[in-house]
Amino acid sequence: MTEGVDTDKRRFLTQAATVVGAVSAGMVAVPFVGSMQPSAKAQAAGAPVDVDISKLEPGQLIRVLWRGKPVWVLRRTQEELDRLATLDEDVLRDPSSKESDQPKGATNLSRALKPEVFVAVGVCTHLGCAPTFRPEVAPADLGPDWPGGFFCPCHGSRFDMAGRVFKGVPAPKNLDIPPYKYLSDSLIMIGVDSEEEA
Ligand code: FES
Repeated sequence: MTEGVDTDKRRFLTQAATVVGAVSAGMVAVPFVGSMQPSAKAQAAGAPVDVDISKLEPGQLIRVLWRGKPVWVLRRTQEELDRLATLDEDVLRDPSSKESDQPKGATNLSRALKPEVFVAVGVCTHLGCAPTFRPEVAPADLGPDWPGGFFCPCHGSRFDMAGRVFKGVPAPKNLDIPPYKYLSDSLIMIGVDSEEEA
């Protein structure tokens, strides 16, 4: 009797562990940050959104809403930044982001005002799906050449850790970078260009 209960319990624990394992292997959970959002009405009108990045760990990505769109804020690791320089026009459609939308101050290799903090609109430039965050290098499902980045499950578009699109996928251009500025080392305002006044 006790044995039967234990077996059931074990089975349940195994199943639960499998589900958790499947989630963590296939995707990275991205928390939605809502504490500093303006009201829904203000958001719809395009109000800037402040994001506290003081607790953002290297490798961690959070998502906020700006003008009804998801915006990612990712603290990249040094390794991830180093890898950006190894990708060029052989594999990327627009490695220097000449044909892409980003603020002037983010028209550089890392596509950011400060290299370690990547801010981007989380909407695929093909038909608007939500790319998934896939920072791991060469996972089985994305192949040995995958350097870490963002993968759109709708039609397979691939972007690197600076949102630069790879060649041979349907997305025509790099992911958009919204206007943003630093209010302090730990606070970003999304929706206002660093060269404009809030
Ligand atoms: S919408 Fe992303 S690949 Fe088509």
